[in-house]
Amino acid sequence: MIKNCLFAFLKQIIAVGSICFISLVIIAACSKKNPDAPENPKPEITLQSAATFPFGAAVAPDLLRNRPAYLEVVTKEFNSITSENVLKMGKIHPELNRYDWTEGDYLVNYAQQNKKRLHGHTLIWHSSLPGWVNNFSGDSITWEVMFKNHIETVVKHYKGKIIAWDVVNEAFEDDGRKRQTVWLQHLGADYVARAFQYAHAADPDVLLFYNDFNLENSVRKRNAVKQMAVDFLSRGIPIHGIGSQSHISVNTKDTAIVNSINELAQTGLKVHISELDISANSANDPNAVFTAELAEKQKQKYKLLVQAYNSIPKKQQHGITTWNVGDADSWIRSFFKRKDWPLPFDDDYKKKPAYYGILEGLK
Ligand code: XIL
Repeated sequence: MIKNCLFAFLKQIIAVGSICFISLVIIAACSKKNPDAPENPKPEITLQSAATFPFGAAVAPDLLRNRPAYLEVVTKEFNSITSENVLKMGKIHPELNRYDWTEGDYLVNYAQQNKKRLHGHTLIWHSSLPGWVNNFSGDSITWEVMFKNHIETVVKHYKGKIIAWDVVNEAFEDDGRKRQTVWLQHLGADYVARAFQYAHAADPDVLLFYNDFNLENSVRKRNAVKQMAVDFLSRGIPIHGIGSQSHISVNTKDTAIVNSINELAQTGLKVHISELDISANSANDPNAVFTAELAEKQKQKYKLLVQAYNSIPKKQQHGITTWNVGDADSWIRSFFKRKDWPLPFDDDYKKKPAYYGILEGLK
Protein backbone atom coordinates (compact mmCIF):
# COMPACT_ATOMS: atom_id res chain seq x y z
CA MET A 1 0.00 0.00 0.00
CA ILE A 2 2.73 2.49 1.07
CA LYS A 3 4.82 1.23 -1.81
CA ASN A 4 1.95 2.01 -4.23
CA CYS A 5 1.48 5.49 -2.83
CA LEU A 6 5.19 6.22 -3.07
CA PHE A 7 5.22 4.97 -6.63
CA ALA A 8 2.26 7.20 -7.61
CA PHE A 9 3.91 10.16 -5.90
CA LEU A 10 7.19 9.65 -7.76
CA LYS A 11 5.32 9.31 -11.05
CA GLN A 12 3.69 12.67 -10.41
CA ILE A 13 6.99 14.37 -9.59
CA ILE A 14 8.52 12.98 -12.78
CA ALA A 15 5.52 14.23 -14.81
CA VAL A 16 5.68 17.75 -13.32
CA GLY A 17 9.46 17.86 -13.72
CA SER A 18 9.18 16.85 -17.38
CA ILE A 19 6.65 19.60 -18.03
CA CYS A 20 8.94 22.16 -16.35
CA PHE A 21 11.93 20.95 -18.35
CA ILE A 22 10.07 21.10 -21.67
CA SER A 23 8.79 24.60 -20.81
CA LEU A 24 12.30 25.78 -20.04
CA VAL A 25 13.59 24.38 -23.32
CA ILE A 26 10.81 26.19 -25.22
CA ILE A 27 11.44 29.51 -23.40
CA ALA A 28 15.18 29.25 -24.06
CA ALA A 29 14.57 28.50 -27.74
CA CYS A 30 12.17 31.44 -28.09
CA SER A 31 14.48 33.90 -26.39
CA LYS A 32 17.43 32.93 -28.58
CA LYS A 33 18.89 36.10 -30.12
CA ASN A 34 18.06 37.06 -33.65
CA PRO A 35 21.47 36.82 -35.33
CA ASP A 36 20.66 39.98 -37.33
CA ALA A 37 19.90 42.12 -34.25
CA PRO A 38 22.78 44.39 -33.26
CA GLU A 39 24.53 43.66 -29.95
CA ASN A 40 23.27 46.21 -27.35
CA PRO A 41 21.34 48.45 -29.78
CA LYS A 42 22.07 52.06 -28.77
CA PRO A 43 19.26 54.63 -28.68
CA GLU A 44 19.67 57.16 -31.49
CA ILE A 45 21.59 60.27 -30.47
CA THR A 46 19.63 63.50 -30.82
CA LEU A 47 20.34 67.08 -29.85
CA GLN A 48 18.24 66.71 -26.72
CA SER A 49 19.82 63.43 -25.69
CA ALA A 50 23.37 64.63 -26.32
CA ALA A 51 23.04 67.92 -24.45
CA THR A 52 23.28 68.22 -20.67
CA PHE A 53 21.21 71.43 -20.88
CA PRO A 54 17.90 72.09 -22.67
CA PHE A 55 18.30 72.17 -26.44
CA GLY A 56 15.50 74.01 -28.19
CA ALA A 57 14.12 75.54 -31.35
CA ALA A 58 11.79 78.41 -32.04
CA VAL A 59 8.66 76.98 -33.56
CA ALA A 60 5.60 78.06 -35.49
CA PRO A 61 2.25 76.34 -34.78
CA ASP A 62 1.21 76.32 -38.45
CA LEU A 63 4.34 74.35 -39.35
CA LEU A 64 3.76 71.92 -36.49
CA ARG A 65 0.21 71.43 -37.76
CA ASN A 66 0.85 71.23 -41.47
CA ARG A 67 4.31 69.82 -42.06
CA PRO A 68 4.77 66.27 -40.77
CA ALA A 69 8.56 66.27 -41.26
CA TYR A 70 8.83 69.46 -39.19
CA LEU A 71 6.69 68.01 -36.41
CA GLU A 72 8.78 64.87 -36.40
CA VAL A 73 12.12 66.68 -36.15
CA VAL A 74 10.93 69.09 -33.46
CA THR A 75 9.45 66.29 -31.38
CA LYS A 76 12.49 64.07 -31.74
CA GLU A 77 15.40 66.47 -31.51
CA PHE A 78 14.45 69.20 -29.04
CA ASN A 79 13.31 69.30 -25.42
CA SER A 80 12.61 73.02 -25.32
CA ILE A 81 10.60 75.26 -27.62
CA THR A 82 10.29 79.01 -27.96
CA SER A 83 7.33 80.73 -29.57
CA GLU A 84 8.81 82.33 -32.70
CA ASN A 85 6.01 84.84 -33.30
CA VAL A 86 2.70 83.87 -31.74
CA LEU A 87 3.23 85.43 -28.31
CA LYS A 88 4.41 88.78 -29.66
CA MET A 89 2.13 91.67 -28.81
CA GLY A 90 0.95 92.12 -32.40
CA LYS A 91 -0.38 88.57 -32.45
CA ILE A 92 -1.60 87.99 -28.93
CA HIS A 93 -3.08 91.41 -28.17
CA PRO A 94 -4.66 92.52 -31.47
CA GLU A 95 -7.01 95.08 -29.94
CA LEU A 96 -6.80 97.12 -26.74
CA ASN A 97 -9.47 95.02 -25.05
CA ARG A 98 -8.96 91.73 -26.86
CA TYR A 99 -6.37 89.00 -26.49
CA ASP A 100 -6.06 86.06 -28.87
CA TRP A 101 -4.69 83.03 -27.05
CA THR A 102 -5.38 80.47 -29.78
CA GLU A 103 -1.90 79.90 -31.17
CA GLY A 104 -0.13 80.34 -27.84
CA ASP A 105 -2.44 77.78 -26.26
CA TYR A 106 -1.71 75.43 -29.16
CA LEU A 107 1.99 75.59 -28.28
CA VAL A 108 1.21 75.02 -24.59
CA ASN A 109 -0.73 71.87 -25.50
CA TYR A 110 1.96 70.62 -27.83
CA ALA A 111 4.61 71.27 -25.17
CA GLN A 112 2.62 69.53 -22.44
CA GLN A 113 1.76 66.51 -24.56
CA ASN A 114 5.32 66.08 -25.72
CA LYS A 115 7.12 67.03 -22.50
CA LYS A 116 8.83 70.08 -23.94
CA ARG A 117 9.80 73.13 -21.97
CA LEU A 118 8.09 76.27 -23.30
CA HIS A 119 10.01 79.57 -23.33
CA GLY A 120 7.93 82.69 -23.97
CA HIS A 121 9.04 85.31 -26.48
CA THR A 122 8.40 88.23 -25.89
CA LEU A 123 6.42 90.59 -23.66
CA ILE A 124 7.81 94.00 -24.57
CA TRP A 125 9.47 94.84 -27.89
CA HIS A 126 9.47 97.82 -30.22
CA SER A 127 8.64 95.61 -33.20
CA SER A 128 5.66 93.37 -34.07
CA LEU A 129 3.38 95.82 -32.25
CA PRO A 130 -0.33 95.83 -32.94
CA GLY A 131 -1.52 98.86 -34.90
CA TRP A 132 -3.48 100.20 -31.94
CA VAL A 133 -0.31 100.73 -29.88
CA ASN A 134 1.10 103.04 -32.52
CA ASN A 135 -2.11 105.08 -32.38
CA PHE A 136 -2.43 104.91 -28.60
CA SER A 137 -2.74 108.34 -27.03
CA GLY A 138 -2.69 109.46 -23.44
CA ASP A 139 -0.29 110.65 -20.80
CA SER A 140 2.46 108.61 -19.20
CA ILE A 141 0.06 107.21 -16.60
CA THR A 142 -2.33 105.89 -19.26
CA TRP A 143 0.64 104.35 -21.07
CA GLU A 144 1.90 102.78 -17.83
CA VAL A 145 -1.50 101.19 -17.17
CA MET A 146 -1.67 99.77 -20.69
CA PHE A 147 1.94 98.47 -20.48
CA LYS A 148 1.34 96.89 -17.05
CA ASN A 149 -1.97 95.33 -18.12
CA HIS A 150 -0.42 93.72 -21.16
CA ILE A 151 2.41 92.16 -19.17
CA GLU A 152 0.18 91.01 -16.31
CA THR A 153 -2.55 89.57 -18.50
CA VAL A 154 -0.20 87.55 -20.69
CA VAL A 155 2.01 86.28 -17.86
CA LYS A 156 -1.03 85.30 -15.77
CA HIS A 157 -2.66 83.47 -18.68
CA TYR A 158 0.45 81.30 -19.07
CA LYS A 159 1.31 80.99 -15.37
CA GLY A 160 2.63 77.50 -14.69
CA LYS A 161 2.70 76.70 -18.43
CA ILE A 162 5.55 78.88 -19.62
CA ILE A 163 8.77 78.38 -17.70
CA ALA A 164 10.52 81.61 -18.72
CA TRP A 165 9.81 84.88 -20.49
CA ASP A 166 11.88 87.22 -22.60
CA VAL A 167 10.46 90.18 -20.72
CA VAL A 168 12.03 92.93 -22.79
CA ASN A 169 13.59 92.42 -26.19
CA GLU A 170 16.20 94.65 -27.88
CA ALA A 171 16.07 97.72 -25.64
CA PHE A 172 19.60 98.84 -26.54
CA GLU A 173 21.31 100.27 -29.61
CA ASP A 174 24.76 99.12 -30.68
CA ASP A 175 26.27 102.23 -29.08
CA GLY A 176 24.96 101.15 -25.67
CA ARG A 177 22.23 103.78 -25.41
CA LYS A 178 18.60 102.84 -24.87
CA ARG A 179 16.82 102.34 -28.17
CA GLN A 180 14.30 105.02 -29.09
CA THR A 181 11.01 103.16 -28.92
CA VAL A 182 7.42 104.00 -28.06
CA TRP A 183 8.05 102.45 -24.66
CA LEU A 184 11.07 104.62 -23.90
CA GLN A 185 9.32 107.66 -25.23
CA HIS A 186 6.18 107.28 -23.11
CA LEU A 187 7.46 105.44 -20.06
CA GLY A 188 10.98 106.75 -19.44
CA ALA A 189 14.31 104.90 -19.24
CA ASP A 190 13.42 102.69 -16.29
CA TYR A 191 10.54 100.99 -18.12
CA VAL A 192 12.67 97.86 -18.53
CA ALA A 193 12.96 97.40 -14.76
CA ARG A 194 9.23 97.95 -14.27
CA ALA A 195 8.44 95.37 -16.95
CA PHE A 196 10.39 92.82 -14.90
CA GLN A 197 8.60 93.83 -11.71
CA TYR A 198 5.16 93.53 -13.29
CA ALA A 199 6.01 90.13 -14.78
CA HIS A 200 7.33 88.88 -11.45
CA ALA A 201 4.23 90.05 -9.60
CA ALA A 202 2.03 88.19 -12.11
CA ASP A 203 3.96 84.91 -11.73
CA PRO A 204 6.60 84.81 -9.00
CA ASP A 205 7.85 81.41 -10.23
CA VAL A 206 8.53 82.28 -13.86
CA LEU A 207 12.12 82.96 -14.96
CA LEU A 208 12.65 86.42 -16.41
CA PHE A 209 15.13 87.18 -19.19
CA TYR A 210 16.41 90.27 -20.92
CA ASN A 211 17.04 89.40 -24.60
CA ASP A 212 19.13 91.19 -27.25
CA PHE A 213 21.15 90.66 -30.45
CA ASN A 214 24.66 91.39 -31.64
CA LEU A 215 26.11 90.99 -28.17
CA GLU A 216 29.05 89.15 -29.75
CA ASN A 217 30.14 92.03 -31.97
CA SER A 218 28.98 95.12 -30.12
CA VAL A 219 31.03 95.41 -26.97
CA ARG A 220 29.26 98.65 -26.02
CA LYS A 221 25.86 97.05 -26.24
CA ARG A 222 27.08 94.04 -24.31
CA ASN A 223 28.50 96.28 -21.58
CA ALA A 224 25.21 98.17 -21.37
CA VAL A 225 23.28 94.90 -20.97
CA LYS A 226 25.71 93.65 -18.33
CA GLN A 227 25.55 96.96 -16.45
CA MET A 228 21.78 96.88 -16.50
CA ALA A 229 21.79 93.34 -15.12
CA VAL A 230 24.18 94.28 -12.32
CA ASP A 231 22.07 97.36 -11.55
CA PHE A 232 18.88 95.24 -11.44
CA LEU A 233 20.51 92.77 -9.07
CA SER A 234 21.69 95.56 -6.77
CA ARG A 235 18.22 97.15 -6.74
CA GLY A 236 16.41 93.86 -6.21
CA ILE A 237 14.70 93.98 -9.61
CA PRO A 238 13.76 90.36 -10.42
CA ILE A 239 15.92 89.23 -13.34
CA HIS A 240 17.10 85.65 -13.82
CA GLY A 241 18.85 85.56 -17.12
CA ILE A 242 20.19 87.16 -20.26
CA GLY A 243 19.25 85.94 -23.70
CA SER A 244 21.90 86.37 -26.36
CA GLN A 245 20.06 85.99 -29.66
CA SER A 246 23.24 84.98 -31.51
CA HIS A 247 22.14 85.66 -35.06
CA ILE A 248 25.74 85.32 -36.13
CA SER A 249 27.55 84.34 -39.31
CA VAL A 250 30.27 81.99 -40.46
CA ASN A 251 32.54 85.05 -40.35
CA THR A 252 31.81 86.04 -36.74
CA LYS A 253 35.10 85.92 -34.86
CA ASP A 254 35.56 82.96 -32.52
CA THR A 255 36.89 85.26 -29.80
CA ALA A 256 33.78 87.46 -30.05
CA ILE A 257 31.54 84.42 -29.50
CA VAL A 258 33.58 83.03 -26.62
CA ASN A 259 34.06 86.40 -24.89
CA SER A 260 30.38 87.23 -25.13
CA ILE A 261 29.26 83.94 -23.57
CA ASN A 262 31.87 84.12 -20.80
CA GLU A 263 31.18 87.77 -19.97
CA LEU A 264 27.43 87.27 -19.81
CA ALA A 265 28.01 84.31 -17.50
CA GLN A 266 30.17 86.50 -15.25
CA THR A 267 27.00 88.34 -14.20
CA GLY A 268 26.04 85.14 -12.36
CA LEU A 269 22.72 85.11 -14.24
CA LYS A 270 21.48 82.32 -16.45
CA VAL A 271 22.54 82.62 -20.08
CA HIS A 272 20.28 81.57 -22.96
CA ILE A 273 21.60 81.36 -26.50
CA SER A 274 18.11 82.30 -27.49
CA GLU A 275 17.82 82.62 -31.28
CA LEU A 276 20.84 80.88 -32.74
CA ASP A 277 21.44 80.82 -36.47
CA ILE A 278 24.70 81.08 -38.37
CA SER A 279 24.38 82.86 -41.68
CA ALA A 280 26.33 81.46 -44.61
CA ASN A 281 25.67 84.50 -46.81
CA SER A 282 25.71 87.58 -44.62
CA ALA A 283 27.20 89.56 -47.54
CA ASN A 284 23.94 88.92 -49.41
CA ASP A 285 25.59 87.61 -52.56
CA PRO A 286 22.69 86.81 -54.94
CA ASN A 287 24.84 84.12 -56.60
CA ALA A 288 25.85 82.46 -53.36
CA VAL A 289 25.99 78.66 -53.29
CA PHE A 290 26.14 76.55 -50.15
CA THR A 291 29.35 74.70 -50.93
CA ALA A 292 30.83 71.86 -48.90
CA GLU A 293 33.49 74.32 -47.76
CA LEU A 294 30.89 76.75 -46.43
CA ALA A 295 29.03 73.91 -44.75
CA GLU A 296 32.25 72.90 -43.00
CA LYS A 297 32.94 76.49 -41.92
CA GLN A 298 29.44 76.69 -40.51
CA LYS A 299 29.88 73.36 -38.74
CA GLN A 300 33.02 74.60 -37.00
CA LYS A 301 31.25 77.80 -35.91
CA TYR A 302 28.34 75.86 -34.41
CA LYS A 303 30.81 73.55 -32.68
CA LEU A 304 32.80 76.42 -31.21
CA LEU A 305 29.73 78.20 -29.87
CA VAL A 306 28.35 75.02 -28.31
CA GLN A 307 31.73 74.21 -26.74
CA ALA A 308 31.98 77.70 -25.23
CA TYR A 309 28.44 77.45 -23.89
CA ASN A 310 29.01 73.96 -22.56
CA SER A 311 31.85 75.23 -20.39
CA ILE A 312 29.92 77.86 -18.38
CA PRO A 313 28.57 76.69 -15.00
CA LYS A 314 25.74 74.16 -15.37
CA LYS A 315 23.32 76.08 -13.20
CA GLN A 316 23.63 79.08 -15.52
CA GLN A 317 22.80 77.10 -18.67
CA HIS A 318 19.21 77.90 -19.55
CA GLY A 319 19.89 76.28 -22.91
CA ILE A 320 20.58 76.83 -26.58
CA THR A 321 17.68 77.55 -28.92
CA THR A 322 18.00 77.69 -32.69
CA TRP A 323 15.72 80.16 -34.48
CA ASN A 324 13.50 77.60 -36.17
CA VAL A 325 14.53 74.22 -37.55
CA GLY A 326 15.24 73.86 -41.28
CA ASP A 327 16.88 76.39 -43.59
CA ALA A 328 13.63 76.92 -45.47
CA ASP A 329 11.86 78.00 -42.25
CA SER A 330 14.48 80.58 -41.29
CA TRP A 331 13.39 84.18 -40.89
CA ILE A 332 16.64 85.21 -42.63
CA ARG A 333 15.40 84.19 -46.06
CA SER A 334 12.07 86.00 -45.73
CA PHE A 335 13.09 88.95 -43.57
CA PHE A 336 16.31 89.91 -45.39
CA LYS A 337 15.14 88.47 -48.70
CA ARG A 338 18.42 86.71 -49.31
CA LYS A 339 19.68 83.25 -50.06
CA ASP A 340 20.93 81.64 -46.90
CA TRP A 341 21.38 78.32 -45.11
CA PRO A 342 21.69 79.26 -41.44
CA LEU A 343 20.26 76.29 -39.50
CA PRO A 344 21.36 72.74 -38.55
CA PHE A 345 18.75 71.10 -40.82
CA ASP A 346 18.41 71.67 -44.57
CA ASP A 347 15.26 72.51 -46.54
CA ASP A 348 14.18 68.84 -46.33
CA TYR A 349 15.01 68.49 -42.62
CA LYS A 350 18.09 66.43 -43.32
CA LYS A 351 20.92 66.87 -40.84
CA LYS A 352 23.62 69.24 -42.12
CA PRO A 353 27.29 69.22 -41.11
CA ALA A 354 26.21 72.00 -38.68
CA TYR A 355 24.12 69.42 -36.82
CA TYR A 356 27.16 67.22 -36.33
CA GLY A 357 29.17 70.29 -35.29
CA ILE A 358 26.68 70.75 -32.45
CA LEU A 359 27.01 67.11 -31.42
CA GLU A 360 30.80 67.42 -31.45
CA GLY A 361 30.62 70.59 -29.39
CA LEU A 362 28.47 68.81 -26.81
CA LYS A 363 31.02 66.03 -26.22
C1 XIL B 1 11.41 87.27 -36.36
C2 XIL B 1 10.63 86.07 -36.88
O1 XIL B 1 11.50 84.98 -36.97
C3 XIL B 1 9.99 86.38 -38.19
O2 XIL B 1 9.17 85.30 -38.59
C4 XIL B 1 9.19 87.65 -38.08
O3 XIL B 1 8.69 87.99 -39.35
C5 XIL B 1 10.01 88.78 -37.53
O4 XIL B 1 10.59 88.40 -36.29
N1 XIL B 1 14.97 89.01 -33.20
C6 XIL B 1 13.90 88.59 -32.45
C7 XIL B 1 12.85 87.76 -33.07
O5 XIL B 1 13.87 88.81 -31.23
O6 XIL B 1 11.58 87.99 -32.51
C8 XIL B 1 12.81 87.94 -34.56
O7 XIL B 1 11.90 86.98 -35.08
C9 XIL B 1 14.17 87.79 -35.18
C10 XIL B 1 15.11 88.81 -34.60
